[in-house]
Amino acid sequence: MKLKNLPWIPFAFFAIAIGLYPLTYYLVDMHGKGLFSGKTKELLENVVWHTAFYIHITFGGIAMLTGWTQFSKRLRDRYLNTHRMIGKIYVIAVMISSVAGFYIALFASGGIASVLGFGTLALAWFFTIIKAYTSILKKQIKQHENWMIRNYALTFTAVTLRVYLPFSQAVMHIDFITAYRVISWLCWIPNLIVAEMIISRLKQKPAYAIKPV
Ligand code: HEM
Repeated sequence: MKLKNLPWIPFAFFAIAIGLYPLTYYLVDMHGKGLFSGKTKELLENVVWHTAFYIHITFGGIAMLTGWTQFSKRLRDRYLNTHRMIGKIYVIAVMISSVAGFYIALFASGGIASVLGFGTLALAWFFTIIKAYTSILKKQIKQHENWMIRNYALTFTAVTLRVYLPFSQAVMHIDFITAYRVISWLCWIPNLIVAEMIISRLKQKPAYAIKPV
């Protein structure tokens, strides 16, 4: 393996590990555990919230598991149809998960700060996937690539959140709700900054020669 390919290892590892994480809500009795421990009985019994929550985590997991593969140049060069097929699954998964994510964001633990943090993230996640998809429909390959980098940086929020949250508790010993409010913003804004840095580095490179859809 070439040295320049090394970042793929943690990238793929986290995408797969966190992408599979929603399965715990199906396989383990989460009653009183994880996110559910901080929720009121009324909310947990609310069918709309419950359904939105499961839609969000299921399609969020699919987005996380599929999205990272799309950045492989080899996949795009050799198996363009596979790139297109996985891409469509990813776009649909993000659209569904972001709408459900926006709804459950309205009930986020931590009040207005987290509601706004996760709510804005959901809107940005939805907006960037629309831009990414419409740009490829218009055959604007470079714009498509850039919007997908931004979008997946937001999908990767699921990873950063689950790194920062345990760190804030186990290492920094910050009160959970305070940490949650801050992390609802911190989990995605730096990701977007990194995305912009990657985009400006890639500016020099020509867009991939993708055949028209
Ligand atoms: C990037 C846009 C995303 C937004 C806006 C978002 C929003 C949210 C919100 C608001 C909650 C509930 C928080 C609360 O009630 O306190 C939540 C929980 C959750 N989300 Fe997302 N999410 C996003 C991405 C993802 C992705 C990609 C996955 C896939 C792994 C995911 C999986 C989960 C899981 C499993 C939970 C339950 C909490 C836990 O056990 O850690 N989310 N999300």
